Amino acid sequence: MKQVSRQARLEGRVSGFVPTMGALHEGHMSLVHAAQAECRPVIASIFVNPMQFGPTEDLQKYPRTFDEDRKKLEGAGVDYLFAPDAAEIYPPGFRTWVNVEGLSGVLEGKSRPGHFRGVTTVVLKLLEIVQPSKAFFGRKDAQQARIIRQMAGDLHLDAEIAVRPIVREADGLAMSSRNAYLEPDERRAATVLFRTLDGARKSIDRGERDALRLTAAIRDALRAEPLADPEYVALVDAETLEPVTRLRGACLALLAVKIGATRLIDNLLIEERGGGFNTEL
Ligand code: PAF
Repeated sequence: MKQVSRQARLEGRVSGFVPTMGALHEGHMSLVHAAQAECRPVIASIFVNPMQFGPTEDLQKYPRTFDEDRKKLEGAGVDYLFAPDAAEIYPPGFRTWVNVEGLSGVLEGKSRPGHFRGVTTVVLKLLEIVQPSKAFFGRKDAQQARIIRQMAGDLHLDAEIAVRPIVREADGLAMSSRNAYLEPDERRAATVLFRTLDGARKSIDRGERDALRLTAAIRDALRAEPLADPEYVALVDAETLEPVTRLRGACLALLAVKIGATRLIDNLLIEERGGGFNTEL
């Protein structure tokens, strides 16, 4: 992989990288297409990174569909697939970690201690190996994308970090490899994340600017779904990830909700523009 990367750089090519943990869906493929629109070669990686799973999380049962994934990537015309094994990425004696302070300790980081340390460590390793001009991430993991952007800036990484929109199922559920865990009744209930954020979006369109009222309405709407067990509901500044009391600049409404045993996240991007607020689900 390093040889290929070096060659592409020597030839002055703009390479694009889509890191994944496999179980590919249309969300991943939208990142592939975005990379292909601007970059050659396009490299995708599949690596279920053990270091970003907590001891009681779903590492063992995380969906692994390598053959199907490879076919999807080949079918889409991806130039290279990098699929290392865990012993290559974390050789015996490995002891170097990357931690983005502050941003990694809140929200997802609070619910999943050590998760972002695992993400930033593996993403830095992958960027070092693949050496892309541009790396593509999805906005469904909005906090992850923010943290990776911070890391790339702080460590003067060459790769540009691109964050692309959330891809949703027809009923609004954000695409996620973990949706495969949902039983049929849970799958129906899972649309509550989208529905509540869509409700917040409509309130903002009607002029609501108060963050506390918006989050209270989201919590109430989640409570109406018996299978939903909310972990957090937050309205934060999109840069600092600190809670806001009123909408201003760029904000994110972020949700983590358990539907049965499956933990799902989703978010609404709210951006102040031309005297109003633009919202993107
Ligand atoms: O978003 C993911 O799939 C993972 O967190 C990533 C970025 C591939 C790192 O393992």
